[in-house]
Amino acid sequence: MTASAPTRITLPRPDDWHVHLRDGAMLQAVLPETARDFGRAIIMPNLVPPVVTTADAVAYRDRILAALPQGADFAPLMTLYLTETTDPDDLAAGFASGLIQAVKLYPAGATTNSASGVRDFDKVRPVLERMAEIGLTLCVHGEVTDSDIDIFDREAVFIDRVLDPIRKATPGLRVTMEHVTTKNAVDYVRANDDDLAASITTHHLMINRNHLLVGGIKPHYYCLPVAKREEHRLALVEAATSGDKRFFLGTDSAPHTDPNKLSECGCAGVFSATNTMACLAHVFEAEGALDKLAGFASENGPAHYKLPVNQATITLEKRTDPAPFPAQIQTGEGPVTLFNPGYPLMWRVV
Ligand code: DOR
Ligand code: ZN
Repeated sequence: MTASAPTRITLPRPDDWHVHLRDGAMLQAVLPETARDFGRAIIMPNLVPPVVTTADAVAYRDRILAALPQGADFAPLMTLYLTETTDPDDLAAGFASGLIQAVKLYPAGATTNSASGVRDFDKVRPVLERMAEIGLTLCVHGEVTDSDIDIFDREAVFIDRVLDPIRKATPGLRVTMEHVTTKNAVDYVRANDDDLAASITTHHLMINRNHLLVGGIKPHYYCLPVAKREEHRLALVEAATSGDKRFFLGTDSAPHTDPNKLSECGCAGVFSATNTMACLAHVFEAEGALDKLAGFASENGPAHYKLPVNQATITLEKRTDPAPFPAQIQTGEGPVTLFNPGYPLMWRVV
């Protein structure tokens, strides 16, 4: 670090464009972690059962608001889970009322609680056409689920076989490629227009598949899409720190209790709500790109969703002692381990 490198930066209050808050006791415990640093978040609908109708989303939003700590400066942005029987009129009414910000496409079987997702993409054509007409964003979990496609190739194959055909058949459809993990996805976003953007998680900026698998398996680094080779991580870091408005933060913070992670068949998900801003400051500083952090965390997401940037601000400070993040947070369902990049984080929100 040179003597003139900043050790304090102030940004518009950031937003998280992809988070899992769950429900019940887990919601109660993890919501304050997101609400502390973030002004808004796109709330994933993969509850059991999923949030499929506007009425489901109203009820879920009310449970989130009831669980918010007093005085929190946080607004949940609700999504609906796309199924083969989604009613386009219900979607459109939810969007017109201002409640629904996006619709989430999970290919059936792609990840946690995705069994009600889409198997036959032709069945959702009318819904997608209506969404393009009214300007409602489709958030995409971009992985094919074919058993013959290697798990490390599933994102790249999804782009060619599913996403590109959908976008070509539905001009004007606004799409967020969520939690992109490959250079293929970064290149695809760059090759297209502003209707297409991508979110990038905190952990995919910091870990590659070696971190997950070398020297012993690390269940707390296991998520979907799974971390890829280092060349892909570098492409994500380059995209996030480039200033390109089509890339923004979506943490995909996805809490599972330790017993569910540390099991013979462990759940996918990295919980990073608590220390994401400290992690991002580390990554952006290492790239000499602290001046691009506001774009990635606070400005590019609202631009894609056609919402204003938050008026409030947060300040990050770099200190000489590591930030004291807990190893776990305690929840009514059991402990949840916090994402640990493997080195001390010197930045903190002050
Ligand atoms: O790692 C993941 N966890 N990826 C997802 O797509 C879902 C999420 C979850 O809900 O746990
Ligand atoms: Zn997710």
